[in-house]
Amino acid sequence: MRGNVRVSGAKNAVLPMLAAALLAEGDTVLHGVPALDDVFTMGEVLTGLGASVDFPGGGRAVVRAADLGWEADPRLVRRMRASFLVAGPILARTGRMRISMPGGCAIGSRPIDLHLKGLRSLGARVEQDRGCIELSLPGRSLTGALVYLDYPSVGATENLMAAACLARGETIIDNAASEPEVVDLAGFLTAMGGQIAGAGSKVIRIRGQAHLRGAQHTVIPDRIEAATFMAAAAATGGHLRLENVEMEHLQAVTAKLREAGVTVEPGSGGYAEVWAAGRLRAADIKTMPHPGFPTDMQPQLLAAMTVAQGTSVISETVFDNRFHHVDELRRMGACITVEGRCAVVRGVPQLSGAAVRATDLRAAAGLVLAGLAAAGETRVMDAHHLDRGYEDLVGKLRSVGADVTR
Ligand code: EPZ
Repeated sequence: MRGNVRVSGAKNAVLPMLAAALLAEGDTVLHGVPALDDVFTMGEVLTGLGASVDFPGGGRAVVRAADLGWEADPRLVRRMRASFLVAGPILARTGRMRISMPGGCAIGSRPIDLHLKGLRSLGARVEQDRGCIELSLPGRSLTGALVYLDYPSVGATENLMAAACLARGETIIDNAASEPEVVDLAGFLTAMGGQIAGAGSKVIRIRGQAHLRGAQHTVIPDRIEAATFMAAAAATGGHLRLENVEMEHLQAVTAKLREAGVTVEPGSGGYAEVWAAGRLRAADIKTMPHPGFPTDMQPQLLAAMTVAQGTSVISETVFDNRFHHVDELRRMGACITVEGRCAVVRGVPQLSGAAVRATDLRAAAGLVLAGLAAAGETRVMDAHHLDRGYEDLVGKLRSVGADVTR
């Protein structure tokens, strides 16, 4: 593959921002919003809560959260776990929240205990019945507190940071997630009038305000989409020039690609060039919370490693069940054994095309990459998973010479 690819705005930044827009009465306008299924689903969640949400085109989202309800549509929450990010904002705005348990998904059980523990610390009463959660505020509003997260959960950090913006007094979130999307959310909340310090570090301090106002904000580039294209170039020996890339957010991935023999040249003004001369070298990968190697790139890099020279040991420490793509890659001739949270990948000279089935968003991306590197034709079933997190992935790949059709 050869040519230029433009990276879209970050799905995992815009989803918490749409939820946090519920904190303000006025209009919020987000720019650089990707046209993704998950973005439109979050729009439906907000509309169901009484907000008005418009996607007028040009990468914009307009939200007006005037008079809000406090019951999220259970069907939507089941469809997309990130819907739970409205819990903190709605509780903070209305004093109540009724939402169904998000339930597990293809990559693991994905509990929300840390979200609930944090909201309790801020003064919420939490009741659960028949798979639903009722949040309420005995006091008039949330009260700032010290919250220690047993695990640096991205979603829990985002939910609590947003809720704390309308709490009385100061909230400290210790062992917070430091992902770039958390930092971008903090920037948006600050533009709304929030007082936040320490986003991007382990300790985030939030001083609550009586009201927040609608704001304008441009979403950061999607580091996982950018990394997916880097992995595609690596797996196929291609040469890509990526636009709209924040290399600061990609240090763990670029370090790993370089270890595997890929050249990554950051350009100025948000450009990066990536190319792989010969066959990749095997490299061990261990997914970790930021700034470690991102779990959302594990399926894609694992796919590239199936044809590397040597054996790669890939540990998935973030989710308890994120190797569904392995069975499908084996159908293409990959040589992989899985022991618990560890996959041992012995590189083979080439994969052979086969019919494979996608189980989730990033597994689908990994299978597309494997198909690009394989001999012959690969059919990826349930490719609709891609539309949750990639804006026209097939179109972008075709534009740089990939032989892929939908
Ligand atoms: C966010 O999910 C992302 N989604 C995920 O991206 C990403 O994989 C994940 O962070 C980790 O980086 C969005 O931002 C919308 P977590 P989130 O809470 O917030 C456990 C993609 O492909 N945990 O950091 O749900 C949990 O089970 C998606 O774009 C608890 O135990 O991730 C998991 O093992 C997939 N209790 C680990 O923490 C809790 O209350 C990380 O989860 C919350 C989480």
